[in-house]
Amino acid sequence: MKVLIIYGSIEGQTRKIARFMEEVLQEENHPTVISNATEDPPSPDKFDVILIGSSIHLHKYNSAVKSYVTNHSDILNSKPSAFFSVCMAVASSIPEEHEEAAKIAQDFLDETGWKTNTVWQIAGALRYTQYDYFKKLTMRMIAKKQGGATDTSKDHEYTDWGKVKRNVLEFVGINT
Ligand SMILES: Cc1cc2nc3c(=O)[nH]c(=O)nc-3n(C[C@H](O)[C@H](O)[C@H](O)COP(=O)(O)O)c2cc1C
Repeated sequence: MKVLIIYGSIEGQTRKIARFMEEVLQEENHPTVISNATEDPPSPDKFDVILIGSSIHLHKYNSAVKSYVTNHSDILNSKPSAFFSVCMAVASSIPEEHEEAAKIAQDFLDETGWKTNTVWQIAGALRYTQYDYFKKLTMRMIAKKQGGATDTSKDHEYTDWGKVKRNVLEFVGINT
């Protein structure tokens, strides 16, 4: 089964997750192509399964991912495909934050015309060491409200790698 993974990432966590998915699939002998949405990604038509992911920044997904999905929605709707959404809200202890993340994902699907039923909500990372002064302050404030880490001297990763692996393997298994 040929798998295509497309991702959009600002600080690298979604890219790390996409690469991890690639490794998981290659280990199971599924030929997998991975591409950054900003770097002339291949069309989904030659692939059997398509996984597309983006991080959320300021309540929005990556614009290159959004264009890709909009431009290929017909093909995506004709094949098994899954959307992985990466953000910090799903690591929050506040239920409304989870609802907000789910709404952002649903709005994205509605706006692009992509009718996938498979959406994985994945907790991302706080990359304090990569943020500039103001971003660090803002993210620390948001993290404090959400119950996340506030030590800005290092990065904090919230991704549940076991769950990512289980989701990908289950999805490929269901569709073989
Ligand atoms: C400037 C900025 C804005 C963000 N906005 C949101 C947001 O609106 N909702 C959310 O849940 N997470 C938000 N996050 C958290 C990111 O989604 C999280 O750090 C993710 O791991 C980033 O993935 P990436 O490295 O692939 O871009 C934001 C992070 C930054 C730095």
